[in-house]
Amino acid sequence: MEVILRPSAEAAVRLVARIVARELRARPNLVLGLATGRTMEGVYRELIRLHREEGLDFSRCRTFNLDEYAGVPPTDERSFRHWMQEHFFRHVNLRPENVHLPDGMAPDLEAECRRYEEAIRSAGGVDLQLLGIGVAGHIGFNEPLSSLQSRTRVKALTPMTIRQNAAWCGGEERVPRRAVTMGVGTILEARWCVLLALGSEKAEVVARAVEGPITSMVPASALQLHPRCTVILDEEAGGRLALKEYCRWLFENEPEWDAFRREDRP
Ligand code: F6R
Repeated sequence: MEVILRPSAEAAVRLVARIVARELRARPNLVLGLATGRTMEGVYRELIRLHREEGLDFSRCRTFNLDEYAGVPPTDERSFRHWMQEHFFRHVNLRPENVHLPDGMAPDLEAECRRYEEAIRSAGGVDLQLLGIGVAGHIGFNEPLSSLQSRTRVKALTPMTIRQNAAWCGGEERVPRRAVTMGVGTILEARWCVLLALGSEKAEVVARAVEGPITSMVPASALQLHPRCTVILDEEAGGRLALKEYCRWLFENEPEWDAFRREDRP
């Protein structure tokens, strides 16, 4: 795991957007795994800016979102499809047929989970997977106790996640109780995982995921097993890490980040 600590949320967000932009320019038919949530808002804003001002081209890009609420139609403002449409899809030149989310309204959700796995496989697998982390330690909706080998399936939300997502849905009682999510095993098959976390409320769970033992109690800790996982944090989210100094040093000194460093100091 490579953990990069940036001085501000803006710098962390910009770095994630630039990673996406670089990968997409190198491989225009990139298979991009997407996440929803507050953390990702800035990333999508920056990608939209790069599309408008620097011609970043999504016309051949294929996207797969991590998850979707079960039983919530795409027209409902709580649905991830609706959120993605508003915050990203309608602002860039992605082709509708290249955009994929699980269908939370499918009459047979188990069949839908199998279909989604198959769709990812037939696209050649995810090249770059963007991830956030929930206060409960989830990636996607892989709540604590999720099998670290799980595949796309229906998962019940923990009370902690329901509280986290209450503002999104307009109150705790309006948060759907179940979601279709890529499994931890599905996520681990992406060629590159980039997890972004911002703010002090994520500091404790980030430290457990990154420096703690690998445990299904913190499904994000499974990323420690991934051969290429980059965790990008602002100072607040990295506030509880024992290896803070090292994580700051990496970005400033490792050749891999040279180009990004130069762009950050025009
Ligand atoms: C969303 C998702 C979740 C979020 C996580 C963080 O598609 O898969 O794992 O990334 O709950 O959410 P925010 O960014 O709202 O704190």
